Amino acid sequence: TRTQVAIVGAGPAGLLLSHLLHRSGIDSVVIDIRSRHDIATTIRAGILEAGSVRTLVDTGVSDRVITDGDRHDGVVFRFGGENHRIDFQELVGESVWLYPQNDVFADLAARRETDGGDVRYGVSDTAVDTSGARPVVSFIDSDGSPGRIEADLVVGSDGSRSICRKAFPAGTRGEWFREYPFAWFGFLAEAPPSHPELIYAQSEHGFALVSQRTPTMQRMYFQCAPGERPEDWDDDRIWAEMRRRVNGNGFEIQEGPISAKMVLPFRSFVTAPMRYGRLLLAGDAAHTVPPTGAKGLNLALADVRVLHEAIIDFLAGAGDEALDRYTERALDRVWKAQHFSYWMTTMLHSVEGASPFDIARQRGELALVTGSRHGAAYLAEAYTGWQQAA
Ligand code: DHB
Repeated sequence: TRTQVAIVGAGPAGLLLSHLLHRSGIDSVVIDIRSRHDIATTIRAGILEAGSVRTLVDTGVSDRVITDGDRHDGVVFRFGGENHRIDFQELVGESVWLYPQNDVFADLAARRETDGGDVRYGVSDTAVDTSGARPVVSFIDSDGSPGRIEADLVVGSDGSRSICRKAFPAGTRGEWFREYPFAWFGFLAEAPPSHPELIYAQSEHGFALVSQRTPTMQRMYFQCAPGERPEDWDDDRIWAEMRRRVNGNGFEIQEGPISAKMVLPFRSFVTAPMRYGRLLLAGDAAHTVPPTGAKGLNLALADVRVLHEAIIDFLAGAGDEALDRYTERALDRVWKAQHFSYWMTTMLHSVEGASPFDIARQRGELALVTGSRHGAAYLAEAYTGWQQAA
């Protein structure tokens, strides 16, 4: 097969890129080692920035985010037993949408299908060869037949364990990373929402996040040790932990049967440049953020908006500079999001061995962010998403 852009990874980043390219009259083929069903049912993040929503709606992916998603005009920080609301609309005139990544994927996959896009799920043995004049992606199709895609460009949107990133020759990219001494325990609870908006709770027993999914199903997380095993936590133990961190002063979380327990890794990672020759990286393949603040998916979609423009320019003959500009423009947002995710994480989590000074200082920081209009506006602007720089 010959195509203009071969895309490895059919998550939201890969499918959005394929969709945007299609609208610009550029062909692409997308492959993924996972089945469509696996991608559709993996539980991931739930919050879309205003700009992510505009991208989905304005480029005709779907209006479902508006009709079925939930607009949130603010968020709650809970500490010292009290709720402190940050009003996004009042502070920066923006909102975020609660709309799970599963639904973003479903909308994109359906749109690509309707538009006749070539998306192959369930492939295996993917390999990227950048040694020739044009890159080649080879794989085994789901029916067992060998596949070979020769393309002008290859985009790796294949997640944090990216095989495309590994195809960069040694010494052609740098890596920046940071580990954290904790993880998140995530689960679904069959219960009504505990509050109209998300609650990020800091407590002496550790962090907890009360998020949502539907009127009858809620998503919650609490800080745990990285080595924690989901099977060691039954419903009673989980609710006891959540109550300890969130309940108090008349506020109680709504409880119910628990499912979909998982431990989420916590890592900050960036690789750059996000390009080697005609091979480009987007989304988690190039950077991961800790989940606090829900930036991962939004960052992937933002990469793709910028990459789409770079690809148009490159295929129109603008040369390698167009592709180099992609790394530069994408990294501007990536490092803001890295800082924001790191900052939200350190502001809200408990660190073992923290000194009394550290603990009191953290409380001072929360008081500044929730108690000052300028502090709150800083958070509101970051949470709802920064404007794209030129
Ligand atoms: C969700 C996840 C996050 O990491 C976050 O900061 C907020 C919400 C979620 O899955 O709903």
